[in-house]
Order: sequence, then structure tokens, then C-alpha cells
Amino acid sequence: MIILKTPAEIEIMAQASRVVAEVLQILENAICPGISTEELDQLAEREIRARGALPAFKGYRNYPKTLCASVNEQVVHGIPSKRRLKEGDIVGLDLGAIVGGFYGDAAVTVPVGRVSDEAMRLIRITEEALYLGIEQAVVGNRISDISHAVQRHVEAAGYSVVTEFVGHGVGRQLHEEPQVPNYGKPGQGPRLQSGMVLAIEPMVNMGKSAVRILEDRWTAVTVDGSWSAHFEHTIAVQPSGPPRILSHRLQMAVQQ
Ligand code: MF3
Ligand code: CO
Repeated sequence: MIILKTPAEIEIMAQASRVVAEVLQILENAICPGISTEELDQLAEREIRARGALPAFKGYRNYPKTLCASVNEQVVHGIPSKRRLKEGDIVGLDLGAIVGGFYGDAAVTVPVGRVSDEAMRLIRITEEALYLGIEQAVVGNRISDISHAVQRHVEAAGYSVVTEFVGHGVGRQLHEEPQVPNYGKPGQGPRLQSGMVLAIEPMVNMGKSAVRILEDRWTAVTVDGSWSAHFEHTIAVQPSGPPRILSHRLQMAVQQ
């Protein structure tokens, strides 16, 4: 069952998503060679709580941290650790927050210092795929129109989409129906309706699509060792026109 949200509920989800967006911006500003992913996790938890919100991932299915920090060939769900980021790495930062019982969920992938042109291209193509997917989230379309737009852009660039993990509905639960895959033929799946709130989240590998889970039971890595990027926004389908991106990062100085 797909749970549609009222305009008042969407305002609360916008608050949760805004917390996520602001804290992701703070984390991105803090990224530099030498910082550990655990330090980023602590910063994330402190800044979420400072905004009167709760970390959404901590304790979710026993996930131990606030942040997912996925480095290089790690695709998603990297657990923050003592590992220090170094110049040339890329790191996916995935964060969720709860406000008034509603979830916000978003992710970015950022370079650490100067990175290779190929790594920058992977990041750019993945973010572009997210926005092309978001563009499809309009009344009259179906879920797989989002999926198809993502896959098309990624594969045209010579990369592959990850199929083991998908985007999702989001609301009073982190994961609600419908699933939003990053692949598929257009014109399939549920019709998009005003009040649907979706987390759209392309995961893109430079090489082959296959992933495996590390011994820690969380970290997903590419099987071929190729690098991977991930971007995610929480969006609300509008009565007409393009969706509202609830986790948009505002062009403003964030209070630290
Ligand atoms: N953005 C991810 C998702 O939607 C975050 C989940 S991480 C978890 O699945 F630790 F909470 F599972
Ligand atoms: Co998500």
C-alpha cells in the first residue's frame, strides 16, 4: 500500500529533509584528507540533535551509526570507523533524520581533496542521473519512468546501475512502498500521484553492476573493485508540474 501524505505532513517531512540537507552540507564542508569517517559520524549525530531531530539510521535493523560513509569501491552502507580519508578518495555520505515522526533521507558523494578526472565524472554522471529521475516524478508518469531515466543516463556514460538496492517510498517509516529501482523499462509500476513522497537514490558503478556484502554484514562493495557513487533526494510529487525536492541543499551559509 502506498501511503499518500497530506500537505501538512509534507511540511513536516520537509523539515526532516532540511535537517538532513543542512547536516550533509556541514559534513561536506568538513571533509578533508585525514578526517576519519567516525569523526564525520559524530559530527552528523551532534548536528542532527542540535536541530531537534533524531538520527534515523542508528538502531535501524541494528545499524550502529548515524551516518553511512562509503569510500571508493564501497557502494552503500559503509559503517563509520577509524579509517581516515585520504586525498583522491571519494566518499558517499548517506544520512537520515526524524522530525515529528517523519523521516527525511538523502545522500551525496564528495571528493576528498583533488581526485582523478574519472572519479569526478562518476560523481557528475550519478548526480545527473538523480536529477533526470526526479524530473520524471510527475503525475501521469509511472514509477519505472524514474527508473528508466536513471538507467539510460548511467549506461550511456558507460557505467552500470546497482540493482540489489532500490529507492523507496518514505514517510513515518524509512522504507515504504513503492520500491523505486534504478533500472527498468518505462511505463511500468504504480502511477505517480500527488502526495507520494519518494527517496530516489541512484547507485552507480564505474565497472560491472555486481555487489557483495562485507563480513560486517552492512558494507556493500563492488565485486570488481571499481569505484561507486550514490546520490539521493527525498521528493514529493506535486498536483502538477515538477516534484518538490524536500532535501534540497539551500545556497546559504549553514550555521555550524
Ligand atoms: N538511504 C539508505 C536507505 O534508504 C539508508 C539506510 S542505512 C540503514 O536504505 F542503516 F539505515 F539501513
Ligand atoms: Co534511502
